[in-house]
Amino acid sequence: MPGKKSDEKVKAAVTKHYSKMAKKSKSCCESEPRGSELVKIYTAEELAVLPKEAKDSNCACGNPVAIAELEPGQVVLDLGSGAGVDVFLAARNVGPKGKVIGVDMTDAMLEKANKLAKRMGFDNVEFRKGEIENLPVVGDSVDVIISNCVINLVTDKERVFREAYRVLRPGGKLAISDRVLVKDLPDEAREDLDLWSVCVSGAVMEGEYLSKIRKAGFVKVKVTDRRTYSEQEARSFVKTGVEERKKRRRTLDEETAVQAFLAVANDRIVAFKPAK
Ligand SMILES: C[S@@+](CC[C@H](N)C(=O)[O-])C[C@H]1O[C@@H](n2cnc3c(N)ncnc32)[C@H](O)[C@@H]1O
Repeated sequence: MPGKKSDEKVKAAVTKHYSKMAKKSKSCCESEPRGSELVKIYTAEELAVLPKEAKDSNCACGNPVAIAELEPGQVVLDLGSGAGVDVFLAARNVGPKGKVIGVDMTDAMLEKANKLAKRMGFDNVEFRKGEIENLPVVGDSVDVIISNCVINLVTDKERVFREAYRVLRPGGKLAISDRVLVKDLPDEAREDLDLWSVCVSGAVMEGEYLSKIRKAGFVKVKVTDRRTYSEQEARSFVKTGVEERKKRRRTLDEETAVQAFLAVANDRIVAFKPAK
């Protein structure tokens, strides 16, 4: 697994990948046929209110808004907001008296999300450029933090959870969807930056992930659901990336990539910052 020294390399690969996803309107977590993954994640009603461009660049592996139990007037923060899908869904729930802030490090994603927010007429959303390990948000100011398939991409996950804890108000809630490991990754997959960028190789074992959340100070940490992939789904994910990899002369074989996808689960996790 890339250690601290390769954090820069990971960030460069991840930023490059998501710039492409934003500019080419591609979804990183897509299988065939296009859109088949999204309907497993969001309800038909949620998908109907989202613009096509947001869905096309969506890179979700779960639906954190569905476990966030948002209320009108709340302040919500989305870690790694991408094209803004979860920000827009949360903004409907918190209403005009609430606010949703999305933080992302990739300019092309921020540009796209801002354009869509304007077009959809939201004035209770704001996208900020920044790294989720160093949040551009003041302490004790957020009611609920959501995040969708992002923390797995970060080498220093403990720092992300410390930052999440800092910005949440006492009693505030963390409601996230993310990829964790339920089996060991094949050795050759661990160092593969393409598999890291598509939210596979940066994942850690579920138990380790939960202890990092607890170590930051969170309590009542609970996995609310866990979805693994069937072999057919794993093969479909790998197939969509094969041509791209061939063009770039990447050597990781397809079978290893399939085994890597079979080692991950999409978890939804809730946790709380203790009330004072
Ligand atoms: C898999 S996509 C998920 C996007 C969005 N949450 C969704 O569900 O469509 C990961 C996003 O996280 C952003 N990201 C990755 N690492 C980040 C970091 N360390 N700080 C801020 N944003 C990051 C990427 O730019 C990308 O937009």
